[in-house]
Amino acid sequence: MILDIISKKANKYELTKEELETIFMGYLKGEVKDYQMSAFLMAICINDMSDSEIFALTDIFIRSGDVLDLSFIDAIKVDKHSTGGVGDKTTLIIAPLVASLNVPVIKMSGRGLGYTGGTIDKLESIPGFTVDLTEEEIKKQAKEIGLVITSQTKDLAPLDKKVYALRDVTATTNSIPLIASSIMSKKIAGGADKIVIDIKVGNGALIKTKEEAERLSSLLIKIGTYYQKEVRTVISDMNRPLGHNIGNKLEVMEALDVLKGNTKGNLLDLSLTLASKMVSLGKGISEDKAMVEVKENLQNGKALDKFLEFVKYQHGNIDELEINAKVYNIKANKNGTLKDINALNIAKLSEYLGAGRKSKDEKIDYNAGIVIKKEIGDEIKEGDILASLYTNIDNPTFNLERIFEIS
Ligand code: URA
Repeated sequence: MILDIISKKANKYELTKEELETIFMGYLKGEVKDYQMSAFLMAICINDMSDSEIFALTDIFIRSGDVLDLSFIDAIKVDKHSTGGVGDKTTLIIAPLVASLNVPVIKMSGRGLGYTGGTIDKLESIPGFTVDLTEEEIKKQAKEIGLVITSQTKDLAPLDKKVYALRDVTATTNSIPLIASSIMSKKIAGGADKIVIDIKVGNGALIKTKEEAERLSSLLIKIGTYYQKEVRTVISDMNRPLGHNIGNKLEVMEALDVLKGNTKGNLLDLSLTLASKMVSLGKGISEDKAMVEVKENLQNGKALDKFLEFVKYQHGNIDELEINAKVYNIKANKNGTLKDINALNIAKLSEYLGAGRKSKDEKIDYNAGIVIKKEIGDEIKEGDILASLYTNIDNPTFNLERIFEIS
């Protein structure tokens, strides 16, 4: 039976919901083996899935675990998801910004696997910050301050988790239908009413081309419509890192700078876009009107106040946020113009410095990371500092040319 299902997909036939359920739920129960699921996932990668197969798979993922009930909050719950990028600390900026406009944000976030930490790792780098909240604590905090970010309390879409771990080691992560059902199952199981999804495209992202990003966007919206959840997407560039800081504590510091109104550039621009889409959905107003409100609350300090209130509520001590690491500088080896900063290679360097984890149980060094000191287009002189590396490993090595292009 399992072999028939695999060969049906390998021969480009459409599968029924029952067949998908048999193979995927069998995998969750351990009856279908890793090697069988690997072959099946590769067949999906090569032969794609129809819309009805994608809806069915999303449903199977959702029903594999708990579904969060956030109906105790008497307002529209808007969630945001990113397909993952280098230096992406937008959640730390957007969540308090949106909550400061009375649109509640209750987010279950994850730890990172791969080159950099996830939102939970970034928050945990703040001394004292608690990420494991009970359901009662989540409810109380949501009612009192309208902003909660916690690690998963419930087992949301456990089948997606198991399949994703296998995709990660079988070169099947970049299948668009698999990505779409993976993302939407978690967001729907997480209790969101409306969802904003940031689709990253470029060398530092899972999705490498604009065409794939557009297909993913239309699939996410279609799945949303099927579940009566409004979805809006943003397609954003990930050929270059977002902002200047990469690494957990360093990213919290940069997020604070944005909330204090001290920065401009791609990080601020993307944060404003995502926040205004969330506020537009949450309040039922136009994105232009939402953008005016979002900018106002960034300028008048209300977003920063909400962030500080939230950190304090979850026992974090922001005043103790300091980097304890050795600093090494990457200096330019010639004169010229800075043409490119490679997101993927800078991410690999940050992992090597200690900012990411290769396996689930590896410990992250929250102090490790990189601060980029120059902008694309800057005139560079030999000896100029291009980036500072923060690490607790001695004399780290790096290949300048793979990160900075100067000509
Ligand atoms: N993010 C997810 O949650 N799932 C994917 O498959 C890819 C990105």
